[in-house]
Amino acid sequence: MKRVSLKLDRNRYDIHIGPGALGQAGRWLEESGLGGKLVIITNPIVNELYGGSLKQQLAKGGAEVVVLEVPDGEEQKSLETAGRLYHELTSHHVERTTPILALGGGVIGDLAGFVAATYLRGVPLVPIPTTLLAQVDSSLGGKVAVNHGQLKNQVGAFYQPRLVISDTDTLKTLPPPELTNGLAEVIKSAAIRDSGFFAYLEANMERIKALDGGVLEEVVFRSAHIKAEVVAKDEKDTGLRGILNYGHTIGHALETASDFGLGHGEAVAIGMLAAGRISCQMGLLQSGELDRLKRLVEKAGLPARMPALDLARLTAAMTHDKKISGGKIRMVLLKSIGSAAITDQVSGELIEQALRG
Ligand SMILES: NC(=O)c1ccc[n+]([C@@H]2O[C@H](COP(=O)([O-])OP(=O)(O)OC[C@H]3O[C@@H](n4cnc5c(N)ncnc54)[C@H](O)[C@@H]3O)[C@@H](O)[C@H]2O)c1
Ligand SMILES: [Zn+2]
Repeated sequence: MKRVSLKLDRNRYDIHIGPGALGQAGRWLEESGLGGKLVIITNPIVNELYGGSLKQQLAKGGAEVVVLEVPDGEEQKSLETAGRLYHELTSHHVERTTPILALGGGVIGDLAGFVAATYLRGVPLVPIPTTLLAQVDSSLGGKVAVNHGQLKNQVGAFYQPRLVISDTDTLKTLPPPELTNGLAEVIKSAAIRDSGFFAYLEANMERIKALDGGVLEEVVFRSAHIKAEVVAKDEKDTGLRGILNYGHTIGHALETASDFGLGHGEAVAIGMLAAGRISCQMGLLQSGELDRLKRLVEKAGLPARMPALDLARLTAAMTHDKKISGGKIRMVLLKSIGSAAITDQVSGELIEQALRG
């Protein structure tokens, strides 16, 4: 079992990572002073796989456990579903000290986190992420949100959890495309911050795909470590934290322009390589390093080529993206494998060239 500590200005919390971590949830909750009544928010798929044993374990330890299910799917990240959950929390007499455990992927994490941040002006939140994306990215850093209209994550808060429990064994039941999806964020973390980890991924990608327990633990640990370190330096996302958007400026435009035919991980993979090409063109990155990134993306089973999309729509989607400062497009570029920089100095011409592939 491994542990990452996220140290913020006003508080700190632990992220427990490893195979079988779920089995120790009761102990860690107790150590954090959380008990009595507990609410688990989850979906039917994850509840069926992991909810029952978690509930049993916590009840055995003397807790009163309330399980609230929401249907699976991104469309549940809504004010409507949050409203329904508030209603249920009230009917179960949930108090300000009652923790909410968010058991599931990023959708459950963002929704249950938003509910925890706002119900009674905030109840303790404990994410128990069960997808690779959630374990390495969405459960860490305190961003919680729901979608509003067509706009993703439009209504939300910064709300830090009390602890995070990442059981890497849960990744073994993930549909393979979901594992691949999360690998885009893993590769991103290594590419922007840790060349040693990048080399580790190059050497171990087959073992990750084969769900080797020790390798999965190491991958989640090292990715979480990178995110925790970046968030600790810039909790409210006003500077350094922007490097976590590597591949995302172009990636988000690709998701939009493909009408979400491209998955998030796929779009980020293509976006990372496009930003990599721009980095080379601007003389920041050596082409050999870009080749390494491309090979690793392909090894992970992610796409590397720009799909045939309408260039005008792509460009329009990019200029509407929120990662724009003062009318200029803000992008994360690579200086080398393991080192990134944020700039608004990329010319429109270079961006267009990168979007052409
Ligand atoms: N808050 C943040 O900082 C942040 C960062 C990145 C992404 N996000 C958000 O995360 C969401 C995407 O999260 P996601 O990729 O985890 O998707 P998800 O939550 O939809 O999960 C993907 C699928 O896997 C299923 N699943 C979850 N765990 C499983 C398991 N162990 N075994 C089998 N099936 C399992 C889910 O039911 C779902 O069908 C998006 O809404 C995105 O906006 C938030
Ligand atoms: Zn992402």
